[in-house]
Amino acid sequence: MDGPQIRERFLAFFEERGHKRVPSSSLIPDDRSLLLTTAGMVQFKPYFLGLADPPYPRAASVQKSFRTTDIDNVGHTARHLTFFEMLGNFSFGDYFKKESISWGWELVTEGYGIDPDRIWVSVFEEDGEAARIWADEIGLSADRIVKRGKKDNFWSMGVAGPCGPSSEIFVDRGSEFGPNGGPAVDEERFLEIWNHVFMQYECDDDINVVGDLARTGVDTGASVERIAVVSQNVASVFETDLLRPMLSAGEELSGVSYGDGERTDVSLRILADHGRAATFLIADGVLPSNEGRGYVLRRMLRRLVSHARRLGIEKPLTGRLVDVTVETLGDAYPELRENQEFAKQVAASEEERFAATLRQGMTLFESSKAEAKKGVLSGDAAFKLHDTHGFPVELTMELAAEEGLEIDRDRFEELMQEQRTRAQAAAKKGDFAEEGLAESVARAGATEFIGYEKLEADTRIVGLIAPSEVVQEGEEVRVLLDPTPFYAEGGGQVGDTGIIRTETGSIRVADTQPTPGGAIVHIGVVESGEVSDGAEAHAEVDPERRAATARSHTATHVVHWTLRHLLGEHARQAGSLVAPGRLRFDFTHHSAVPAEQLEEAEYTANTRLAADDPVRAYETTMEYAKAEGAIALFGEKYGDLVRVVEVGDYSRELCGGTHVPHTGKVAVVRVLGESSIGSGLRRIEALVGPDALKEVNLERRLLQEVVRELGAGDPAAAPERARKLVERLKQLESAQGKLQKEQVSGLSEHVAARHSVVAGVRLVNSLQEGDADQLRALAQEAVGRLEGEEGAAVVLGSAEDGRALLVAALSKNLVSRGVNAPQLLEPAAKAVGGGAGGKPTLAFAGGKNAAAVEDALAGIPRRLEELLEGG
Ligand code: SER
Repeated sequence: MDGPQIRERFLAFFEERGHKRVPSSSLIPDDRSLLLTTAGMVQFKPYFLGLADPPYPRAASVQKSFRTTDIDNVGHTARHLTFFEMLGNFSFGDYFKKESISWGWELVTEGYGIDPDRIWVSVFEEDGEAARIWADEIGLSADRIVKRGKKDNFWSMGVAGPCGPSSEIFVDRGSEFGPNGGPAVDEERFLEIWNHVFMQYECDDDINVVGDLARTGVDTGASVERIAVVSQNVASVFETDLLRPMLSAGEELSGVSYGDGERTDVSLRILADHGRAATFLIADGVLPSNEGRGYVLRRMLRRLVSHARRLGIEKPLTGRLVDVTVETLGDAYPELRENQEFAKQVAASEEERFAATLRQGMTLFESSKAEAKKGVLSGDAAFKLHDTHGFPVELTMELAAEEGLEIDRDRFEELMQEQRTRAQAAAKKGDFAEEGLAESVARAGATEFIGYEKLEADTRIVGLIAPSEVVQEGEEVRVLLDPTPFYAEGGGQVGDTGIIRTETGSIRVADTQPTPGGAIVHIGVVESGEVSDGAEAHAEVDPERRAATARSHTATHVVHWTLRHLLGEHARQAGSLVAPGRLRFDFTHHSAVPAEQLEEAEYTANTRLAADDPVRAYETTMEYAKAEGAIALFGEKYGDLVRVVEVGDYSRELCGGTHVPHTGKVAVVRVLGESSIGSGLRRIEALVGPDALKEVNLERRLLQEVVRELGAGDPAAAPERARKLVERLKQLESAQGKLQKEQVSGLSEHVAARHSVVAGVRLVNSLQEGDADQLRALAQEAVGRLEGEEGAAVVLGSAEDGRALLVAALSKNLVSRGVNAPQLLEPAAKAVGGGAGGKPTLAFAGGKNAAAVEDALAGIPRRLEELLEGG
């Protein structure tokens, strides 16, 4: 069976058994505690935890999944991938172990036709029930039911969430793949294809059971790629129809064949996995960066490029890998096709960047190599190569080995561990794990949001997170209401502010934030009186701030439409900030937008707004929204119902934000500017409505000031006036320059006339008024006049403001007689308390001893004589 058949057989099998087919959710999870979607159950987490009611008791899906923990294994084993497709069936408080195991067996043996004699299973050592079902109901022989501990057969998300004992299904691939003895002995030969988790408990971040789940359930996960390995009878996931085309692309680009050698095979496998995974990440809206999921993407693209170099590929290659991924999987995942050009652009620009870093990294490697002690390359260098230049440690190790060196792995691991700890802390930071909050949120459930229609409402406090049960004036508090008119930050739009009043006191709300599971948290301070849980309340959103935010949000959609209209479809939104009176909008575009085009965009957007088109919002299915051409932004969950915001008949976006009813309400949008925020990414900032007017007023005031200072009378005359003034200034400057030259020339005649002759050389040594520049000009001019066959020297000195200054200019022919200007000035410089410096033909000296200048000048003829004699 090929990939599409494997997927379809799974979904059809469970559909026949009452499961709802649910589309894959994005790789960017809704769940803020997770970096990326790691399994099929992620989108269903609220159902297992009882935070939301499942709309169906049974579901089945093919989920795009990503495991960063496997990155280092990829390439070195036959079965590990970062990105993979996970088949899963789920029960939310419905069936449990018996059905899950029996259906699993039926589908594997009959549906996929895998010989029952090749199957082994594992169960959690304390789960007697699962072992009994395998033995008694399925009839599997006891020696092929392996009991394992918590490490292998207890599944959790790796962060707090639902968890439970698991049972895995393995297929024996035969003696050519490894020793006999079951999965405990060898997991390459005994390939795990399907994990059944019996969701029963709630776990904390450290996989300690902290409670029972609201409803028990089933969560299974099977890798499409691994089933393909068995079904297609190939040696590794890379040789299945799902990844083989990627291997071939690497072969074509490098001229190396898969199977030529282990070293090149590892690199080809890395190209295949990473190229495919990067394409999926970008298509779901991840962009390379230095943190979080952006870092995962960056690290993968860099690893890919360095392995490409090892294969001898010097040309850009990511574009080809994206294309092959789209050709292979674009039918199953249409978002790949929709974002193909975008993905190529993002990958190519990262590739280009790394090409430069790679060279620098090699330079660092060379210098670290030279500093290596006792055949060991320092762990710090290996870490820096990894961290700063994106060198995978395997690459550094190999480069080192070629030089007969090892790397200090202990130190490297120590630094990596420190970095991992930092990364984990960062990954969890988004989590609402604060004391008490998770509990209150779990108790209160999802909050009903009524803020599209209402800005104030009678409601009730259903959760209060504060230092004490009754919260006093001045204390901070987090509040859950049901329902609420407050909009929680999301889709770029800031959270609402306002006030919550109860009989006994009021809370000033400074921010509103969402939590996983759909609760809305109001963050604020008790402003007066005291407040307690369960109280009746009246909630009021700050209406002006909300109105200003709504104007910005509608303006953002219109600006987005305008950019796509003017620059092309590739100008996609990559992030935004929608705040009262202003907006920031990031989009993908290869180069700066010229001022005229920006002005045109501003004009077009305002013309659109002035048309006063209606802004409508409606809920519909994802399929319908897409068919209507709605733009799905990053991180949208492909759930059943989505909200579409439509402006006139031209702009359609999936959006949960708040908007004005007619575009005329926005009044005006004024673009402040455009800038680069990374390769291929631009940012526009703009002011909206009355705030735009403030900006215009500021500009007007500045203009008035300029007009007044120019004496132009009115603004229209100002540019001409400014041009004339600048021209006049230039004329004056050049006239003045001429005058100065004439002056110097006249003066220099006088200076030259005062010369004496020392050993045939014409010499001036006299006191003169002027600053360093003036003395220099004068001395050079005079020396030009005096230069005869035997050469000339002019030394001028001044004593102004208590400082001595000396300048010596020498003719070239004097210099060729072995005299130079700094030497000539040396004793004089000493006499005035300083030193002399300059070129052979021109030197300066300065000092504090102004009274000594005359004597110093008087010593010049002797000094010249000395030098001439010496030369
Ligand atoms: N969540 C389990 C896993 O990822 C089963 O889907 O293995």
